[in-house]
Amino acid sequence: MYDLLQVLFTNIEPTYIVECGSMLGGSAIRMAEVLKNNDKPTEIICIDPFTGDVNMWDWEINDGWKFLRLENGIPTIYKRFLANCKYSGFENKILPINATTSVGIKLLKRLFSQNRISQFPNYIYLDSAHGKDETFIELSLCWDCLINNNSILFGDDWGWEAVREDVIKFSNTIQNKTDYQTLHKIHHLMRGSQIVNNNILLYKGQWILFKNVLGNSENQQKFIHDNNSQPNNFSGIKPTIVTDR
Ligand SMILES: C[S@@+](CC[C@H](N)C(=O)[O-])C[C@H]1O[C@@H](n2cnc3c(N)ncnc32)[C@H](O)[C@@H]1O
Repeated sequence: MYDLLQVLFTNIEPTYIVECGSMLGGSAIRMAEVLKNNDKPTEIICIDPFTGDVNMWDWEINDGWKFLRLENGIPTIYKRFLANCKYSGFENKILPINATTSVGIKLLKRLFSQNRISQFPNYIYLDSAHGKDETFIELSLCWDCLINNNSILFGDDWGWEAVREDVIKFSNTIQNKTDYQTLHKIHHLMRGSQIVNNNILLYKGQWILFKNVLGNSENQQKFIHDNNSQPNNFSGIKPTIVTDR
């Protein structure tokens, strides 16, 4: 993930970053490290109820690695998240909001409408519940929150069926709001990346959507479409790999 973050953060200046689904802070800390290495003052808001997901509760009875590590029936994820942020030295760069994606994103919108925050993030990393349809709703909420040009909605677990299906389904609704120019630029910079369904960049299990808030003219979309190496014969939810490097 470091190489992807390096390319993204140095090509698309981050205002601030929102992560939905932070667990123990691993991905947030990785982002903070890349920002620090590039002398960027960007801060990260982590939205997570820190209560795990259905699988984590299900698997807790196993003898293997326990995600929740319950104490008096309460997951200790948040305590461990805070400890990791402190240990890594980023406790002043990472601000947790103990809420679901839906509540957290709606809160940002409310605060913005009341002039209590002056801007929206231009990066949202979505790695939360991974449920079918729930992911689609989260994608829609997060996408609406990106109001600046050069905004990125990205996330993990392309290999997870519910995530993949909802990302593809959602990507069909934003074909005319995709920033194709930046998508193709990052694709060329990221060796090993692929473009799927015309507007999803894939790299090592990470998926990335690029937003153009102004929308694309029909001519521009046609240009992008005509210049892809294969036609987009996407149907249903099966991804079409358009280009492969
Ligand atoms: C896969 S983990 C996140 C891993 C983390 N991004 C990383 O790479 O280090 C999923 C997280 O999503 C959180 N989660 C579950 N349902 C959620 C929801 N509706 N909104 C936000 N976060 C949620 C869980 O508490 C869990 O911490």
